[in-house]
Amino acid sequence: MEFQNLLFEVADRVVTITINRPSALNALNNDTLTDLNKALDEVAKNDGIKGVILTGTGKAFVAGADISQMASYTPEQCRAYMGYAQQTFNRIEAIEKPFLAAVNGYALGGGNEICMACDFRYASEKAIFGQPEVNLGIMPGFGGSQRLPRLVNPGLAREIIYSGRNVTAEEALRIGLVNRVCAPEALMDEARAIMKTIASKPAHSLRYAKTSINRGLDTDLYKAIQLELELVSLCFSSPDQKEGMKAFLEKRPANFAS
Ligand code: CAA
Repeated sequence: MEFQNLLFEVADRVVTITINRPSALNALNNDTLTDLNKALDEVAKNDGIKGVILTGTGKAFVAGADISQMASYTPEQCRAYMGYAQQTFNRIEAIEKPFLAAVNGYALGGGNEICMACDFRYASEKAIFGQPEVNLGIMPGFGGSQRLPRLVNPGLAREIIYSGRNVTAEEALRIGLVNRVCAPEALMDEARAIMKTIASKPAHSLRYAKTSINRGLDTDLYKAIQLELELVSLCFSSPDQKEGMKAFLEKRPANFAS
């Protein structure tokens, strides 16, 4: 696969997607979003890929939407660009495989927004998060005004969005924006280790768990619990459920097929 601004490397059934446009701190211009969509097509269709690590080259994870590309936009051009990014990030949530953002540096604006579309986040001690759009005379437009208040205390989300202030890795951990803060040199090893564990689990367990969590969060509790019932029941149609439970009863490790 050919990409302009992205690296795509598979190991242990996990793909590492690296946004690779360091001259603009990995800002997400249209070409980079197109690369990302091409990578997502492959992740969605390739059964050999069980999960994704998303990271960035150099000192940035992603420094946001591309300011030089959008500076002269009309409202209509903004709608097309931001809509494209929103659809791309929605795909990250819709693909029924776990995504981990390994945040190596600046995750500002669209950078924070793409990592919030992932299932969970690990950060380097050097990572800096934030929604600085107000400093540019706009507001978040890649999903940030919706995902941030759903992920952290809504009052804090408002403070972060209204002030445009930076959030350190340590604060990100404290407020639940990231699960873990790592030494910079340990970030990718830690990311690979957890994704290797996740990739050893049956594909249908991961698929239905992600769907149950994502769809459930957007609906009321009792409908969400009904959805969970449908999905857990579907698990019982899988040979890996038979194998998992048989292995437990025979006191041996499971040998999953998917
Ligand atoms: N878009 C386009 N280019 C960017 C960029 C961005 N978001 N962020 C950085 N760059 C470019 C710089 O223009 C610079 O290019 P040149 O070398 O050609 O001048 C290069 O990347 C290196 O950046 P700096 O020299 O600024 O690096 P620094 O270390 O001094 O500062 C920084 C780093 C604090 C992250 C700073 O670059 C910065 O503030 N970037 C903008 C962050 C931002 O505002 N992001 C939000 C964008 S709006 C958005 O994302 C809206 C939305 O919801 C979708």
